[in-house]
Amino acid sequence: MRQLIAGNWKMNGLLAQLDSIAAPLTKAHHAADVLICTPATLLHPARALLAESSVLLGAQDCHAKASGAHTGDLSAAMLHDAGARFVILGHSERRADHGETDAIVLAKVQAARAAGLTPIVCVGESEAQRLADMQDKVVGAQLRHSLPAGFDGVIAYEPIWAIGTGRTPTEQDVAAMHAHIRATLVAHLGAMGQGLRILYGGSVKPSNAKALLALPEVGGALVGGASLVAEDFLAVVRGAAG
Ligand code: PGA
Repeated sequence: MRQLIAGNWKMNGLLAQLDSIAAPLTKAHHAADVLICTPATLLHPARALLAESSVLLGAQDCHAKASGAHTGDLSAAMLHDAGARFVILGHSERRADHGETDAIVLAKVQAARAAGLTPIVCVGESEAQRLADMQDKVVGAQLRHSLPAGFDGVIAYEPIWAIGTGRTPTEQDVAAMHAHIRATLVAHLGAMGQGLRILYGGSVKPSNAKALLALPEVGGALVGGASLVAEDFLAVVRGAAG
């Protein structure tokens, strides 16, 4: 399967900036699948901008319920209606800011699939957990508790301490964790777990993308800061093996 390079814009981007960040992506031919996960407010105009291109569109969260009295929240069907085809779920910032547990992530994964969105489920250990050598245990539990049987989405391994910090694990550590995630997916999901893409995320940038994307079991990247500058994101995309 082609690698997937996904941009996570987080809470960044106004309408006036959409064109400068996203339009350059539509002009190049990419060896990898390219996805941008904009704020929900930009999905509709982004869909129009990306319509004639191969660039995919996604959201950053959805509610676990299909509809109802949840002021301020957005359902998976609403995001699909606005143009999203992917949704990031269980990002560490949502786990920290909104107290999202694995059980909540599981419910959101099911809501996303019911609405036709492909979930990108984020997992990853804190720095304290890494220092205590608990990363395999933590990530294994996150996967087992947040992925339903038949899960056919994408996994993103994002060590929390590498997000937005400029620090990354060593290549050996990334390769070891991706092998662990693959083994866990196969144990949990059977043959289905064999083909799922496992993205690496956390301070991916033009200078380290090629090396990270060349590691075994790395099926792409989830890119935060560097996805907000078209030229940097394109450089990360060019680092993909295809
Ligand atoms: P970063 O963010 O690339 O800015 O470290 C990645 C993410 O949080 O998805």
